[in-house]
Amino acid sequence: MSVAAFIASNKDRFLNELLDLLRIPSVSADPKFKNDVFAAAQFVKESLEKAGADVTEICETAGYPIVYGEKIIDPALPTVLVYGHYDVQPADPYELWDSPPFDPVIKKTSNHPEGAIFARGSADDKGQFYMHIKAFEAMMASGELACNVKFMIEGEEEVGSDNLDKFVLANKERLKADVILISDTHMISMQDPSITVGLRGMAYMEVEVTGSNRDLHSGTYGGAVANPINVLCKMIASMKDENEHITIPGFYEKVQELTEQQRQRLNEAPFDLNEYKGKLDIEDVHGEKGYTTIERVGIRPTLDVNGIWGGYTGEGAKTVLPSKAYAKISMRLVPDQDWHEIAQLFEAHFKAIAPKSVKVKVKAHHGGAPAVVSDSSVGYQAAEAAMEETFGKRPIPTREGGSIPIVALFQKELGSDPILFGFGLDTDALHSPNEHYGVKNYFIGIETIAAFFRHFRSLSGK
Ligand code: BES
Ligand code: MN
Ligand code: MN
Repeated sequence: MSVAAFIASNKDRFLNELLDLLRIPSVSADPKFKNDVFAAAQFVKESLEKAGADVTEICETAGYPIVYGEKIIDPALPTVLVYGHYDVQPADPYELWDSPPFDPVIKKTSNHPEGAIFARGSADDKGQFYMHIKAFEAMMASGELACNVKFMIEGEEEVGSDNLDKFVLANKERLKADVILISDTHMISMQDPSITVGLRGMAYMEVEVTGSNRDLHSGTYGGAVANPINVLCKMIASMKDENEHITIPGFYEKVQELTEQQRQRLNEAPFDLNEYKGKLDIEDVHGEKGYTTIERVGIRPTLDVNGIWGGYTGEGAKTVLPSKAYAKISMRLVPDQDWHEIAQLFEAHFKAIAPKSVKVKVKAHHGGAPAVVSDSSVGYQAAEAAMEETFGKRPIPTREGGSIPIVALFQKELGSDPILFGFGLDTDALHSPNEHYGVKNYFIGIETIAAFFRHFRSLSGK
């Protein structure tokens, strides 16, 4: 039976197995879900086993484990390393979900007329890395596995992959491959397939601003003692000027400027600003002056408050001048910004602009390097050929605003090209309520991955 026929005759099972994986609430950020994160690792291990891996292992780390699996058919053939993550973002706020986040349902949407699976992790990244396990299974069953394959599926991507560096460095030989496949990004649309060639890096900070040593009566003291929430808001507001340019000294020093020609190519990608605004229900976009939306997301760094809190937020009204205010602030970085350096610049600046009436603390949570991958490597060419075969259209290279910090480490330490072979859409609501992944995307992804293996083997000339 051919790969295509095997996929076709196992459709229901392929889908149901993914739904079972989605029922496990493997939220890495929240210790409440600890057992579920471990259960998801076990599920992945068993799936690899059943698909035909010779070796499967749950590799313990200081945090959540990394699931490793491999099938070596012939050491002389090229080897593909698949990376993905089985952990998911918290589902909060639960009340904004139309169906429970860990009870997947399939519903039609305008972008997914053939149905999409609604569940936390459906697109990011369970639905996407699971395609690789199913493609592997189909290639094994049909006797068409064209390359050796290794899997490394981690459980801490959504919290910064703190233990992955160490694992990669300690297992360089074992992870040796000719190409790394990662399905954890978007494509432009089903009609316009694309391959991601750029990701932003990240520096994630948390700040604490303290005014008086206790909460105060806002009448007795209001107007005379600093309100740390007011101060924090002012400090944050000052970190971007009227052109949405970040004011932290030195912030842009290492930013690579693209040539006019590179920028023009980037902007040739299909993009409809009105549709973009319409889908988000916004009257206008907002960002750095002098750059298009595609550029703002793909090639420019930015700074955003992810959360801000302090004072009284309960029912009704309480008059209080709070003692403390907090914010979580992330900066998305582009080549060649270094996140440690940016974190230091942020800290120095934040302390410098704080008025004497408050004390501030700054902490760096996690970060990661930006990455740009080649659009001419053998791996890229194989991915291009595979997509052309299944979508009937040549994919275009794009730069995305999200971050997969480990990509830069793979480039540096494993020396093989990572291919960002994502099949989701940017409207799939990643990290949001009602995250979903197209059923069609899932199956076309499985087919395209199998096609990749064939093309990669023949293009490698091995
Ligand atoms: N899959 C995403 C990254 C992504 C999403 C890249 C969409 C391109 C397009 C990944 O799971 C993610 O959410 N990464 C975090 C990284 C952070 C936790 C260090 C991110 O981008 O916020
Ligand atoms: Mn992801
Ligand atoms: Mn994510």
